[in-house]
Amino acid sequence: MADYDAIVLGAGAAGMMCAAVAGQRGRRVLLVDHADAPGKKILISGGGRCNFTNIHTAADRYLSANPHFAKSALGRYTPADFISLVERYGIAWHEKTLGQLFCDGSAHQIVAMLEQECATGGVTMALGQPVSGIDHGDGLFRVGVGDQEHRAPALVLATGGPSIPKLGATGFAYDVARRFGLSVVQPRPALVPLTLGTAEQLFHSLSGLSAQVVVRSGKIRFREAALFTHRGLSGPAMLQISSYWQHRTPIHVDFLPDRPADWLLAEKRERPRLPIRRLLAQALPERLADALLERIGVEGELGSLSDKALRQTAARLSDWAFLPNGTEGYAKAEVTAGGIATAGLSSRTMEATKVPGLYAIGEAVDVTGWLGGYNFQWAWASGWAAGQAL
Ligand code: FDA
Repeated sequence: MADYDAIVLGAGAAGMMCAAVAGQRGRRVLLVDHADAPGKKILISGGGRCNFTNIHTAADRYLSANPHFAKSALGRYTPADFISLVERYGIAWHEKTLGQLFCDGSAHQIVAMLEQECATGGVTMALGQPVSGIDHGDGLFRVGVGDQEHRAPALVLATGGPSIPKLGATGFAYDVARRFGLSVVQPRPALVPLTLGTAEQLFHSLSGLSAQVVVRSGKIRFREAALFTHRGLSGPAMLQISSYWQHRTPIHVDFLPDRPADWLLAEKRERPRLPIRRLLAQALPERLADALLERIGVEGELGSLSDKALRQTAARLSDWAFLPNGTEGYAKAEVTAGGIATAGLSSRTMEATKVPGLYAIGEAVDVTGWLGGYNFQWAWASGWAAGQAL
């Protein structure tokens, strides 16, 4: 005998949305989390203000082995749907930049809203208790929660990915998925700072300095701020490119994306007495300009430098290759790329095609958004899709 219609594992963004939607459709839902409070990542997100969605949400802003998979869920639960939920709760919000929507107040408001939505749906919460075991037979999932066993015909994996383990993040969803015969696309840290080796020591000394750049890896490029850190490269531009970066390949940085290729030659004609160091310090933060010129090994007045040297300098500044030696790993990664393979899931309901009643949603699935509210929108949309199907 089932005591619930669905058991949702993980009271994060996706799990709370899913449980609330299913509960409000009359389903008896148990929402389980080993943490003692729901939505811990929501609370720390967006610097405490939760970048809860992005108005430019579209499937091409997500990484996945199947780039089409996210379309259905994202199309049926849109940023406008989440905004209307936020507004029903009177939560004030603003657009910061690039379509990113944040709370005016605090991320606590989003968690409180989702908790209220769960309460409206009569969802039972079991918090602060480990999942001690999962069995499946006779059309029922039996889940040990603390010292109790609960049974339901549906089980939703919403335990996210292993990024930021100190917040209780685990790879639990992958283990359960594998046990049920689902494949897992190799997980890896994403939206994560890149590290530079000792050969790039010069740049470590720029720690704290930021610049607007265009960064490129293969055909993917982002125009945002880059930040030098004592370990390497961070800031939105670098976090974005990290999701696409492959080990042992360089990333390419254009430090002066608005300058034409021959700008240094034009400056030479106009201001031959100007030292190149002074010119570059007008276009870039001074310490950065110095470090780049030192690396290139060029100095002196523009008029004293050959056209060839100036052309080569401009070319380097617009296509600077950094060879990261790694990332700062799961401890610093905002998300995990990879995860439960979409090939085994229905894009409409998130149900495993070969295991009726088993669902996977949110970050646990191989769908990873860009920085800027895309990951929460995927959590809401995939949670909503499963919540409609339970
Ligand atoms: P989520 O991680 O939210 O929830 C998973 C839940 O499962 C957790 O409550 C966890 O305790 C629980 N759990 C894990 N293992 C378990 C186990 N073995 N048993 C029981 N429970 C278990 N995104 C965005 O769009 N805008 C933003 O502003 C930010 N900002 C941001 C900042 C920082 C510092 C981080 C780390 C991440 C972000 N993100 C973000 C990413 C975003 O937080 C993330 O993509 C979503 O929270 C994913 O939602 P899920 O519900 O899938 O997992």
